[in-house]
Amino acid sequence: MNNDRKAVIECNHVSKTFSSLAGDHLVVNDLDFKVYEKEFVVLFGPGQCGKTTVLNLIAGLELPTEGEIIVAGEKVVGPSPKRGMVYQTTNLFMWYNVQQNVEFGPNVRGVKKQERRKKAQHYIDLVGLTGFEKHFPVKLSGGMQQRVGIARAYCNEPEIICMDEPFGHLDAQTRYLMEEEVERISAQEKRTVVFVTNNAEEAIYLADRIILMHNLPTSVHKEYVVDIPRPRNYVSPEFLALREQLTQDMDPTL
Ligand SMILES: Nc1ncnc2c1ncn2[C@@H]1O[C@H](COP(=O)(O)OP(=O)(O)OP(=O)(O)O)[C@@H](O)[C@H]1O
Ligand SMILES: [Mg+2]
Repeated sequence: MNNDRKAVIECNHVSKTFSSLAGDHLVVNDLDFKVYEKEFVVLFGPGQCGKTTVLNLIAGLELPTEGEIIVAGEKVVGPSPKRGMVYQTTNLFMWYNVQQNVEFGPNVRGVKKQERRKKAQHYIDLVGLTGFEKHFPVKLSGGMQQRVGIARAYCNEPEIICMDEPFGHLDAQTRYLMEEEVERISAQEKRTVVFVTNNAEEAIYLADRIILMHNLPTSVHKEYVVDIPRPRNYVSPEFLALREQLTQDMDPTL
């Protein structure tokens, strides 16, 4: 059904083995999938199945042992600001305030102060942090820190945004709130997003398409196009049916 759409990420038969004195550790095994322009794809898999490794490969922080990854027509050979990251822990610059964190990317690229301030303000407003521009991360709650991380990633206008369990460390209530926020932000500013989670509800709430990952060594187990109308209701019959399906389809070797 996606044949007429432009593939922005092509993960072509990618394998990754980590080698050490203790031996070889195959973590990714012939992983093959595409992500299309402005698609929100969730990689859903159990703890320790290799999800972060897959994102690191897409981001170019690790290189495949076999296969290749193409992002926006270019083979990934190392890290690049063209591929934005939002991490499980916030990874903010603690000595920069919200505004300075958000405008970090454009600043490094030499964008003039007035222009980058304007851009940063747009994204600070988008993530709901208007009024907190001069606050330092230490003064912000975990959810607010993740909002800064998201604004920082968007502000650099990368070709793709990778998010690695960004709400994994938040309490359940804040997590629901942040899922709603990401839903709202992605509706307002469509981007190509790869979002990693081990939470089925989060996957169904956010995804255009879910890729269910195999347990270690990981690869694509199954895919689901999620066409439930947005914003989604966690307890609607279609939502619960897909949650049941995902749970049943999880790799039984867990
Ligand atoms: N740089 C590395 N060197 C050696 N082994 C690694 C390296 N990075 C990851 N691994 C191994 O790869 C496996 C998968 O780790 P990874 O962090 O990718 O999984 P994950 O699904 O993101 O886990 P979590 O659910 O804890 O976030 C683990 O066994 C880990 O020890
Ligand atoms: Mg991880």
